[in-house]
Amino acid sequence: MSAGIDARRDAWTQYWKAGALHSLAGSFDGNYSGAIRRFWEQVFAPLDADDRVLDIGTGNGALPALLCELRGDALPQVVAIDLASPDPAWLASAPAACRGRLRFHSGIAAEETGFADAGFDLVVSQYGLEYSDLARSLPEVARITTGGGRLALVVHHAGSRLAGVARAEVRMIDWLRAPGGLMERAAALYPYLVLAARGERERLVADPQAGRTRAAFNEAMRALGELAGREVFPDALLDARSAIAARIDAIMRGHMDANQAVEAHRDHDRALEGARLRSLELCEHALDETALERLLSALENIGFTGAEAAPLHHGEHLVGWTIRADRSS
Ligand SMILES: C[S@@+](CC[C@H](N)C(=O)[O-])C[C@H]1O[C@@H](n2cnc3c(N)ncnc32)[C@H](O)[C@@H]1O
Repeated sequence: MSAGIDARRDAWTQYWKAGALHSLAGSFDGNYSGAIRRFWEQVFAPLDADDRVLDIGTGNGALPALLCELRGDALPQVVAIDLASPDPAWLASAPAACRGRLRFHSGIAAEETGFADAGFDLVVSQYGLEYSDLARSLPEVARITTGGGRLALVVHHAGSRLAGVARAEVRMIDWLRAPGGLMERAAALYPYLVLAARGERERLVADPQAGRTRAAFNEAMRALGELAGREVFPDALLDARSAIAARIDAIMRGHMDANQAVEAHRDHDRALEGARLRSLELCEHALDETALERLLSALENIGFTGAEAAPLHHGEHLVGWTIRADRSS
């Protein structure tokens, strides 16, 4: 089942605030490259400066950034919407044409955009539209796309490497956050570390719980190492280990007191919860062939023609489906 809309919005707002340009920061350096970039170059090639483009689920604006780069002063008008609140820091230093002709709007759902009928010549979305309720968002897209206009999407593929990474991430985060798991054991250890950092060793020696807590934590760290060795994409585990180690180091050096450690730990746990939700939703909304066929025929039924899709590869890895369709005149 999909997460509630508020939880989804908060998880993505949290993600974009951290400054990533796009949602696959671990997979592509800078903006998207390779075949995915070539797809968008082809989609954007016929645009005129007086065309109007809508990007749905824009995040920090990876597609608008690419458009700005490719079109320079001949940039069409670009409207970029997202359910969450993006934080596109790059825009401040973008060329004047980009800043002048690109508008971001937060808190706008694909299912109900509020835009006028037939207002856009090109509607695009990259790993965005599939998260929406397609039964409502596709008719909305048809309504706001002008006759003869175009729709172009990159959507998640159920068999992609990205979906595989996301499934592994959900599994690893569940392991970290399980009752009695590493996160819980680390939190239990901080108060004892604060005592150790203050040199109150006699109190630690006198408290049998201190030894048990340390042993339980060490055991969980050892298990993490073992699990990470078996995972193909162990980043979630290794990142958590580094974050916990950094907190322990800060406590032992006297740079962090007990309250600060608890707060930092809570932020870390919240970040894991958000990452889990985003990954889970990626898996739930990625399209297999049946879902893709359903989407293509839905498009034909609501006024698009020539709807076609193809698997998208980045190097040797399957990373999504491309979809294109034309709005009937
Ligand atoms: C995987 S990110 C993709 C962001 C960007 N297009 C990119 O390529 O980096 C998915 C985005 O879709 C947004 N989103 C999810 N459901 C949405 C909806 N119903 N309407 C609009 N945006 C939505 C999320 O807030 C998130 O920013």
